[in-house]
Amino acid sequence: MFCFILIHCNSENDSTKKEPPPPKAITVPFPEAMYIQNGCISCHGPEGNGRGSRASLLKDARIPNFQDVSTYIYGSSKQAIAKTIQNGIPGTYMKAYSHMRKHEIDALAEYIQKMQKNQR
Ligand code: HEC
Repeated sequence: MFCFILIHCNSENDSTKKEPPPPKAITVPFPEAMYIQNGCISCHGPEGNGRGSRASLLKDARIPNFQDVSTYIYGSSKQAIAKTIQNGIPGTYMKAYSHMRKHEIDALAEYIQKMQKNQR
């Protein structure tokens, strides 16, 4: 047998209750925001080590480790990285981001360069 006990505890007038303050907006600074919004992070990972959330789904892909300049195939300089972002790598999961503006691509390339731990 089931027994339900209903307690009516809301005797106060609702209109006198204060709304809780809205949660604080989270702001992400410019180059990092691009890295997130354009999905780079999902393959390349938040630290650029190639362990993004989608990485395991990309079978047979060789996702580079941005932290280690010896793993770059297309060059680790700012210009080389910018070129890769602009043109993509045909035949791989790395698509061309040619719709991006030059200053956005340059800022992203710089952002990736800052991840490098063994710069020449
Ligand atoms: C769907 C997964 C995916 C996304 C999204 C993605 N990449 Fe890639 N990226 C790859 C893979 C895989 C490679 C390696 C391709 C190959 O086999 O040569 C790569 C290669 C690169 C390289 C070349 C590194 C080298 O070896 O010289 C750069 C730079 C790069 N990505 C930057 C970016 C940036 C910046 C973004 C976002 C604007 C991005 N990628 C988005 C999967 C991705």
